[in-house]
Formats: sequence, structure tokens, C-alpha cells
Amino acid sequence: MDTKVVFQDAGQFATAMLAVFAVDISTGKEAEPIPVLLTTSDAVKQSAEQFLRSGEFKASLGETLLLHNPGSVKAERLLIVGLGKAKTLSVDEVRKGAGTAVRAAKPRGIREMAIAFPEDRAVSDEHVDSLPYSMTARALIEGAEIAEPEWDTYRSDRKDLSVYTLTLVAKDGEALVTAEIQQGFSEGLIYSGAQNFARELVNEPGNVLTPTELGKRAKDMCDAAGLTCEVYSTAKLTELKMGAFAAVAQGSAEPPALIVMTYTPEGGVANDAPVMGLVGKGITFDTGGISIKPADNMEKMKYDMAGSAAMIGAMKAIAALKPSVKVIGVVCSAENMPDGKAFKPGDVVTAMSGKTIEIINTDAEGRLVLADGLHYAKTLGCTHLIDAATLTGACVVALGYNNVGLFSNDESTWEKFMAGIPKSGEKFWRLPCTDDYRDQIKSQIGDIMNTGGRAAGAVTAAMFLKEFAGETPWIHLDIAGCAWNEELKPWLPKGPTGIAVRSIVEWVRSYGA
Ligand code: BES
Ligand code: MN
Ligand code: ZN
Repeated sequence: MDTKVVFQDAGQFATAMLAVFAVDISTGKEAEPIPVLLTTSDAVKQSAEQFLRSGEFKASLGETLLLHNPGSVKAERLLIVGLGKAKTLSVDEVRKGAGTAVRAAKPRGIREMAIAFPEDRAVSDEHVDSLPYSMTARALIEGAEIAEPEWDTYRSDRKDLSVYTLTLVAKDGEALVTAEIQQGFSEGLIYSGAQNFARELVNEPGNVLTPTELGKRAKDMCDAAGLTCEVYSTAKLTELKMGAFAAVAQGSAEPPALIVMTYTPEGGVANDAPVMGLVGKGITFDTGGISIKPADNMEKMKYDMAGSAAMIGAMKAIAALKPSVKVIGVVCSAENMPDGKAFKPGDVVTAMSGKTIEIINTDAEGRLVLADGLHYAKTLGCTHLIDAATLTGACVVALGYNNVGLFSNDESTWEKFMAGIPKSGEKFWRLPCTDDYRDQIKSQIGDIMNTGGRAAGAVTAAMFLKEFAGETPWIHLDIAGCAWNEELKPWLPKGPTGIAVRSIVEWVRSYGA
């Protein structure tokens, strides 16, 4: 999508479709909705007035109303997009509203459209708290760009319904305001570009995106973005004594890939400066291995590399945003297969850290590759760790599809992560990983075992990882429920979501402004 921002009256902008946002200023549960447009353009307000008063439009989030030849404006069509209650309006609703506008244009074959920058000042202060200009512009672009892909690349009958051109129309105002909008606009393109790149990777089937192919795609991205990137395989795993990662990989005909991406700020960093370690689970297909999964829904397990896609996407954004902090991305990629050479329940493997692990279930493979990835990141000098993984079905049972499971061994690191959430708009729910759960992964045979029984499955998986994070401040994101969107939304297609990319980038930036 070709996007630009112009500063003028939205009503005077000639376009096939102009989207304008509306909020409901009524308060209280029983109250009749009172939709109000978030624009100060008299032309736009005039065109929509009659329809807004009809009562058929409630301005709820994701609701749309399309008017043809709307009279006093230059646009051929006016699309009114609801953002929900005025009182609770957030930038995330603006993001979803922009996505809704783009997704309303697509089935109508509209190739060129515009969105009027929401002016919360059009509504009196008692209804709306002002949205920061920069963040609003960023969210608009993110929402629009994220809504655009269809994930039908492999369909021969696919119809190209893409929107080619999108213009953000903001009122001509003070220089300071226009500069802020411009800046948010550029950042929005970076964040959404990174997120869409992650989604592309997750969308690829397992026969196309092998660990080797994932390594190639990461390397190409790094070359283009100006990051250093090394892609290693079996020999390096042996050299580093990554016994846990290697055990998972050994049953597959596809060699594993250990991907190391490095961002160093221009001018370098101080010796005692933080180094952020981004570790991703990159299982390109998870059959469960010898502890094989049932056939039902197994095809979904191509998305078991979504954690690594999030990290590769985050690195792409970091390369463009250039924070003043060093960042190392480590991806552990393998295919989990049953085979004569595959690892087995009862096997004892030695992780890179030296800990011995008794394998109880070969389907608990994600924690094994991450164990070595986390330890390796520490040896590379990382002082702060974050991992993302489609780690457990138990996390999906606990939290469903709306919240990522978050675990941490450090309060201030967790607080710093949560501080970025109002910007990213993604949802995380912290679950415990305190030492009282540790007994569940104690092993008679080795130091620990790779499953902790039925109780608190997402927690015991996190407890396993915590063993390898050790004293290093660490955050674990279990994205199993949020990495794939199963239900079409007005602002989002079905398919890969690119969850956590924006929040991880936000967190990294908070360590180097
Ligand atoms: N990739 C799966 C996690 C998963 C399962 C994600 C279902 C989404 C839906 C992971 O490797 C896995 O198989 N975990 C097991 C762990 C168990 C054997 C302790 C699980 O959750 O069932
Ligand atoms: Mn598994
Ligand atoms: Zn898995």
C-alpha cells in the first residue's frame, strides 16, 4: 500500500472514499447511543448529519456506514467508522478503526482511499481525553497496514482486492503538530512493516519454510536492514554443546538453524550498558515427535515458529528505529519429527548450561530449544532476556485468544514491559512462575524433566525456562493463543497476527531512547 499524509480540510480532499471516525458520547449502560464525528470539517459534518441522526448507526467499534455522493464533500463516498464509547477511547481503537476502514474498502474494489485524522478536539473535553498526535498517526498507519493482507498467496483463484493508495488527511495546523503527525506516520510504517514481515513467515507452510529457509529469510532481511546475521546449523549446535536443541532437531531430515541477528547502535555502547536478548522458538513444524500429536488440527502446527517470527520482525523494526541499545536476536529453529533417529521419552540430554534433562514427552520440545537459546544469549553478553513461543496448549486453555501469557523473574523488567502496552495495544496477562512450582519439574533421573504434569501446564513450562534464564532479568511470552487469528474481525483477517512484535520493540526502545 502506498501511504502518504497531507494537511488540509478532509472535506476538500478528492478521493474514491473518505473514512471518518465517530464515537458514542452517551454515558451509562442503558443510554441511547449519541454518535458524534471526530472531525472539525464543516463539509464532512454536514454530509453525515442527517444519517447520524437517523439512529441506525451506533458508533460501536468496528461498525461502518457508507454514504454515496455525500454532497458537500469532494469524496465520492463517505465511510463513517465507529470507535465505540468516547469516554474510553484509546489509540488501540483508532488502530482498529483504521483497519476497519481499509477492510471495508477491499470487497468494494476501492483502490484509492483516505482517512480523516481523528480530531478528538471536535468533541468537548468532558467526553474525550486528547489522543497524542504522534501515537494516533502511528496507530492509524499500523491499523491500516495490518488490515490489508489476505493470506491467500497459495490460492490460484485469489482476487487482488488490495488498496493501492491510502492518504491520511489531517487538518493543517501548527508546525509542531504536523511534525508530530509526520513522525508517528513514519514510525507506523516501520512497526507495521515489521509485523507484516513476521506474519508472512508464520503464514508459510512447513514444506516451504524449513529451518534452513527461515535462516535465509532472516539473513536477507538483516542484509537489507543493515544488521549482522549468522546462520548456523548442526555443527555449531555440537560445538556449543546445545544438547537440548540438538535432541529436538535430530529426528528430522531438515537440518536445524541457529540464527543470530545483531544490532549495534552507531558509535557503540558503554561496557556496562544493557544488552537486550530476543530469543524465539522456531519450530517450523511440530508433529509432537515420538509423543506424536493427534491428526486433528495438526496442520496448524506450522505456526509453531511464530515466536521466532516475532523476534525476526522486531529486529527489522529495531534496525530502522535505531535505539541506543545493543540488541541480539537468537532464533532456535528445528522441525519436530518422529523417526528412527528421533529423541525419545526417557532419553536424558545435557543442555548447553550443563543441566541434564529427562525427556518425558517429546511434544514439549519448545522449552528444550529455548533452554539452549536463552543460555546462549547470556554467553553472548545479554543482560536482559525476552522470549516468545507458541509454547503450551495449557496457556490457550487458561487465557484463550485475547491475552498472551506473560511470565517474569524480575519486577522492574516486567514493569518496563507493561509500560509500553498502552502504545502497542497488545494484551498480556501475567501468570505466576514462583519457586513453589519448581517441584513439579524435579526429576528422579536428571536435574529436571521437560514436563510438569497436567496442573498449571503453562506455568511449569515457564518454570523450565526460568532455570535457564537464571539470575538474568527475563520475560517469557506464551503466544500460543494469540499468534493465529481464527475469527474474522472487522479490522483483521483470519490467519497470522504477528502478535508481540510491537510490544517487544517498545520494550527494547525503553532501554535506549
Ligand atoms: N507447540 C505446542 C503448543 C501448542 C499446543 C500450541 C496446542 C497451540 C496449540 C507445544 O510444543 C506443545 O506441544 N506443548 C505441549 C506440552 C505438553 C506435552 C507438556 C502441550 O501444550 O500440549
Ligand atoms: Mn510440541
Ligand atoms: Zn511446539
